Amino acid sequence: MHTLTIQTKPAYPVYIGSDLIRNTGSLVQNLGDFERVCVVTDDNVEKLYLQTVLDSFGEKVQTASIVIPHGEQSKCLASLGKLYDFFSEQKMTRSDLIIALGGGVVGDLTGFAASSFLRGVKYVQIPTTLLAQVDSSVGGKTAIDIPAGKNLVGSFYQPSAVLCDIDTLSTLSDTIFSDGCAEIIKYACIYDASLFDLIYQIHDRDILEKIITRCLEIKAEVVAEDEKDTGLRMILNFGHTLGHAVEKKYHFSTYTHGQGVAIGMVKITKLSEKAGLTAPGTVKKIAELCQAMKLPIDCEISNEELFDICCLDKKNLHHMIHLILLKEIGSCFIHKLSREEFSDFLNQ
Ligand SMILES: NC(=O)c1ccc[n+]([C@@H]2O[C@H](COP(=O)([O-])OP(=O)(O)OC[C@H]3O[C@@H](n4cnc5c(N)ncnc54)[C@H](O)[C@@H]3O)[C@@H](O)[C@H]2O)c1
Ligand SMILES: [Zn+2]
Repeated sequence: MHTLTIQTKPAYPVYIGSDLIRNTGSLVQNLGDFERVCVVTDDNVEKLYLQTVLDSFGEKVQTASIVIPHGEQSKCLASLGKLYDFFSEQKMTRSDLIIALGGGVVGDLTGFAASSFLRGVKYVQIPTTLLAQVDSSVGGKTAIDIPAGKNLVGSFYQPSAVLCDIDTLSTLSDTIFSDGCAEIIKYACIYDASLFDLIYQIHDRDILEKIITRCLEIKAEVVAEDEKDTGLRMILNFGHTLGHAVEKKYHFSTYTHGQGVAIGMVKITKLSEKAGLTAPGTVKKIAELCQAMKLPIDCEISNEELFDICCLDKKNLHHMIHLILLKEIGSCFIHKLSREEFSDFLNQ
């Protein structure tokens, strides 16, 4: 088992290894003297791992669980209300513990519920998708979607611990596994060229653990530097500006998040190579790795559509577009453009 510490305020441990969920009770024991533990999960993960997590607490602690339907549509106000009602029925107090057991949907929703119920109850993340293990479970961004957009309501609320049990990844479908690979490729592109080559061996169990640990080390470094996402954390958005536009054009139904990110990384790097800002040959390497991970590298979307969707994004500060570009694999920089400059960049 690897243990990392995320140096936020307060700091918290991330455990990475095998057979962890069977030991959830003992791994969270030092976080407090809980009378109750409430586990939130979705209907897919419930069947696979819920009982193991509940059993790990033995008889000393009262456990309860609530199951939401799987999928992004559960990351909504109605589910949030159901969690508040459930925590109230269970008579949760601020000295009890909430556990998010599942992918990023369960993690984001539960994190937001934990941050707001009774003005904050401790929570632990047990991410069970590759994307949630390398990305969403660490960093303290919690959110729900509202009709006006995805992740528009949320908070920064760090978990008290994160348990990444690699064994849980064995039940993921190939598509959901590939989705997480896109985020891993992103970390390698922006931060670590040696990780990039390692990804080709991701189907080796030991290498997978090494890769997840390395991604979390990178996320830990970036998050510790910029907990509230006002500067450096932006580099984690490599591939996301154009990727998000792709997801949005197809109404979040044709391309998954990881597929959008893969297309976005390739598109933005093709453009920055053209503009002479990125070492020649970089986009070819990214495209080859994405394809090896069964991720798409292109789709039907015009420059006008990309421009319009990106400029509508409420997150663009002061009407400037912040693009994350690579100097080469393993090294990135923030490139700020006005709308006019962004249009020229797209249409070079
Ligand atoms: N908070 C952050 O920093 C952050 C970062 C990136 C993404 N996100 C959010 O994460 C969400 C996407 O997360 P996701 O990709 O994990 O999706 P998800 O939670 O919808 O999980 C994908 C599917 O996999 C199933 N599943 C989960 N674990 C499984 C397992 N071990 N075996 C079999 N099936 C399993 C789920 O039931 C679901 O159907 C989005 O809402 C996104 O906005 C948040
Ligand atoms: Zn992402």
